[in-house]
Amino acid sequence: MELKTKWLGKPWNFAEETDSTNDWAKREAGKGAPDGAVFLVRNQTKGKGRRGRSWADPKGSGLAMSLLLRPDMAPERAPMMTVLMGLSAAQAVADVTGKTALIKWPNDLVMSGKKLCGILTEMSMQGSKIAYVVIGIGINLTVEKFPEEIKDKATSLKLECGEAPHVERMAAAVLQRFEQNYERFLAAGDLSPFKEEYDSLLASRGREVKILEKGRELVGTCLGIDEAGELLVRTPGGECKTVFAGEVSVRGL
Ligand code: BTN
Repeated sequence: MELKTKWLGKPWNFAEETDSTNDWAKREAGKGAPDGAVFLVRNQTKGKGRRGRSWADPKGSGLAMSLLLRPDMAPERAPMMTVLMGLSAAQAVADVTGKTALIKWPNDLVMSGKKLCGILTEMSMQGSKIAYVVIGIGINLTVEKFPEEIKDKATSLKLECGEAPHVERMAAAVLQRFEQNYERFLAAGDLSPFKEEYDSLLASRGREVKILEKGRELVGTCLGIDEAGELLVRTPGGECKTVFAGEVSVRGL
């Protein structure tokens, strides 16, 4: 694979099969794997999604990859890394296919209103500091037929673009974009350098969203993100509220 990164993906770990690349990355983190290690698998047998859901990955039909990062930052800022990966993945899809995937905040990409990509970030603490963050990304590449229960909600690059990029090309594009963005993010301290581009790719911008936050329901117009990656929503009463990525589920695009 031609990987033009400086430090991300070094070392690069590939396996034919594993349970979940996030779990693999966490096991290796426990054994001292360094900042920037990447884990890619052809066949993920127990892919994990958010909220305890599973991520179905029909054999070899998608990108399943996890990044291990050891940032020296306050744990409250870790959710910004998910937002950053969403943007990086959208940029990488455009780099490789020339097509636009929109971002469903905080961590999905959609095409034709259907889910193309999911991101699962997990963090481990050492005292009050971050020991490591694992960012897992799954992109549907060659799937042509999804299981009945998700067939109206999921899509793949093959279905959207007629052909799918090779998994390693897609992986390299994601890592190259993420490395550049991550370095800018660390230098800036927040997501302010990315706000404009992120908002332009936000599927729900200007549309009504329903937010389920700690059991409460908030309906409003999505305005974009702020520099912390929180979603800005204007309520029908005209009030502007920020919604924190860690606490919500967003309905409607
Ligand atoms: C979601 O949409 O709920 C998140 C899905 C994340 C799936 C990816 S595939 C690679 C990595 N390993 C996992 O077990 N999950 C993530």
